[in-house]
Amino acid sequence: MGADAILIIGAGVFGLSTALELTKRGYRNITVLDRHVPPVVDGSSVDISRIIRADYADPIYAQMALEAQEGWSTTYSDFYHKSGFVLFSDKSNAYLQKSKETILEKGGYVDELSDLSQLRRLYPAVEANVPGAQGYHNPSGGWADAAGSIGLLASQCSSAGVSFITGRRGTVHSLRRSGNKVVGVNLVDGTHLPASQVILATGAWSNRLIDLSQAAASSGQPVGFLQLTPEEAKKFANVPVMINFSTGVFSFPPTPGSNILKLARHGYGYATEAKSEATGRTISGPRRDASNAASGYLPDDADQALREGVKQLFPSLQDRPWSNRRMCWYTDTPTGDFIIDHHPTLPGLFVATGGAGHGFKFLPVLGKYVADCFENKAPRELREKWRLKAPTDGAGTVNMSGDGSRGGPPLRKLSVLEQSKL
Ligand SMILES: *[C@@H]1O[C@H](CO)[C@@H](O)[C@H](O)[C@H]1NC(C)=O
Ligand SMILES: *[C@@H]1O[C@H](CO)[C@@H](O)[C@H](O)[C@H]1NC(C)=O
Ligand SMILES: *[C@@H]1O[C@H](CO)[C@@H](O)[C@H](O)[C@H]1NC(C)=O
Repeated sequence: MGADAILIIGAGVFGLSTALELTKRGYRNITVLDRHVPPVVDGSSVDISRIIRADYADPIYAQMALEAQEGWSTTYSDFYHKSGFVLFSDKSNAYLQKSKETILEKGGYVDELSDLSQLRRLYPAVEANVPGAQGYHNPSGGWADAAGSIGLLASQCSSAGVSFITGRRGTVHSLRRSGNKVVGVNLVDGTHLPASQVILATGAWSNRLIDLSQAAASSGQPVGFLQLTPEEAKKFANVPVMINFSTGVFSFPPTPGSNILKLARHGYGYATEAKSEATGRTISGPRRDASNAASGYLPDDADQALREGVKQLFPSLQDRPWSNRRMCWYTDTPTGDFIIDHHPTLPGLFVATGGAGHGFKFLPVLGKYVADCFENKAPRELREKWRLKAPTDGAGTVNMSGDGSRGGPPLRKLSVLEQSKL
């Protein structure tokens, strides 16, 4: 098995963590392909921060996240900030309630907050003041520098012997087939690469290469950045990561050194419409050939929602213009479960995608789970959870609303004009 060629398409957290783990298991001919060198500029495993939490309604992900926190505290500790994590809502929220129970069942600790002003006793710098907001504080949550930790993971892969092909020569046009078997990839420069296994780890771009419409859809989620002065950054240095489940808007403390404060929304997002180069189908997803991180465009309603979040969480910064904005692309699934499976009808193809907006925190352990599925060693429960479901005839539009953790307005399809600005 060792010398058989494995091509991994996608240098995000799914692709890289899988590549590294496979080297540990004796695979010696692994090549990662991407349009860009990791950290991939317009990917979803990039920019300054991701929430690192074990707060999950689903005990399986909670357990995995606790395992991952070991890795964040050791191998990836340079990029991990245990700032604390606060979850709240202005009405009772089933996900939040279940997640608190799960944490406690697993022996964790929380501070209950029946009134958000109680938070100021723990974090005096917090400005948000909404009597009646309910939730809890988990002191062991925090955030990680996404680009930094992906950079380290990519260099670990490289040291372990993984090859990388990026740029035009690493941009996949389509899967290469022989009958119904996948035997490699066709690249946009007209050449191709053979493989005994292709692993699709293309996140929100996946539907461009194969039809996963019954199992996954892409949604853009707004992100905004505020440049703070050194004095402001000092003032807010000890605020926790905060999420308002009513709106889905969440915030990070300012990044040490660069003093950038980030807000984003964990919502139902925005859909686009584009034609897949590989299959000719109309799909929702980010562009392949242009970086959607470059334009800084957000739909007006998304901008307003984030601005409202600044007002609520950091009132003293409410008039600060954004220093940058971007769309972060989720790969949504019906239940928020990942898709990690051998393709049921295309031998030679393995799929590792469907992060559903919560995959990044698993960076230190995700590859282990993917490799277990790849080698058919994972427990039955996980195989079933992450199974790639076959299309069900006449199912129509599948509801990709996820695991119940999202807030804010329903999914909205962007107009042609809005899409042209992305
Ligand atoms: C990796 O696989 C490719 C394609 O089969 C083959 O050409 C190459 O020699 C292999 N490399 C190694 C180091 O085994
Ligand atoms: C959370 O969002 C809701 C809905 O917009 C709002 O009423 C509430 O004030 C927000 N809470 C905080 C603390 O920002
Ligand atoms: C999708 O499911 C969610 C949660 O069950 C529900 O709130 C929402 O209305 C559904 N959306 C559509 C378009 O059916």
